[in-house]
Amino acid sequence: MSEQKIALVTGANKGIGFEIAAGLGALGWSVGVGARDTGRGEAAVDKLRAGGADAFAVPLDVTDDASVTAAAALIEERHGRLDVLVNNAGVTGGMPQNPTTVGIATLRTAVETNVIGVIRVTNAMLPLLRRSPSPRIVNMSSTVGSLTHQTSAAGPETTGPLSAAYSPSKSFLNAVTIQYAKELHGTGILINAACPGYVATDLNGFSGFRTPEQGAAIALHLATLPDNGPSGGFFDDAGPIPW
Ligand SMILES: NC(=O)c1ccc[n+]([C@@H]2O[C@H](COP(=O)([O-])OP(=O)(O)OC[C@H]3O[C@@H](n4cnc5c(N)ncnc54)[C@H](OP(=O)(O)O)[C@@H]3O)[C@@H](O)[C@H]2O)c1
Repeated sequence: MSEQKIALVTGANKGIGFEIAAGLGALGWSVGVGARDTGRGEAAVDKLRAGGADAFAVPLDVTDDASVTAAAALIEERHGRLDVLVNNAGVTGGMPQNPTTVGIATLRTAVETNVIGVIRVTNAMLPLLRRSPSPRIVNMSSTVGSLTHQTSAAGPETTGPLSAAYSPSKSFLNAVTIQYAKELHGTGILINAACPGYVATDLNGFSGFRTPEQGAAIALHLATLPDNGPSGGFFDDAGPIPW
């Protein structure tokens, strides 16, 4: 087995995902740049390669079965295994999202991408991850999905405006992460949820106050956990986040 680690980052053509790919590339890893738009994916790969990273394009729409199956086949053919999967692709579904008026399409988009997409990609990549000596899965969640934060006195400061689709989709993702950790316990696969903080990206109209590079740090940490590292947790740069 080659020494070089192999990673796949979904939604890596921009924002936090791009910086996660850049960070893993800087470690000398071979990084699959998942992107639903081939042109945007290839542009990101060019940029990462210009920065010295060993990056390759992986056309990947997390909401599309055939696309995800093809992405797994591409990685199998190219590398025969996968060491790290970062489920980063995500959408808000569009704002505002008051529960009394939210569109069903908005709900479906958020859950289809942020939850079902993660399950679809994870299950397609698991056979490749099982061939790694130290497989890691990182699910990009958000503190806005923390029920504890949503119901605390400081809630509005940490969980933002009403969000009937995006926030619950991240709570759902957190719950799913716990279920995976239970099933995968003892296999060597470590799976955790991460919050990047409030980061200036397209997702929030660049209103965040952290840089995408800062947002990528927790994912890089969880992608490179030692074998005795945690699984089934929810973390940001400061440590565990309450569910
Ligand atoms: N920014 C924040 O403050 C913040 C805070 C907490 C958590 N997060 C989470 O961090 C992750 C990255 O967000 P970001 O802020 O970097 O957002 P972003 O700049 O909008 O990037 C989102 C990425 O996901 C991709 N994507 C969306 N739908 C997809 C699909 N169906 N299939 C494949 N890729 C898809 C986008 O591709 P296109 O370019 O094709 O649209 C883009 O590459 C998300 O999971 C988000 O929920 C962000």
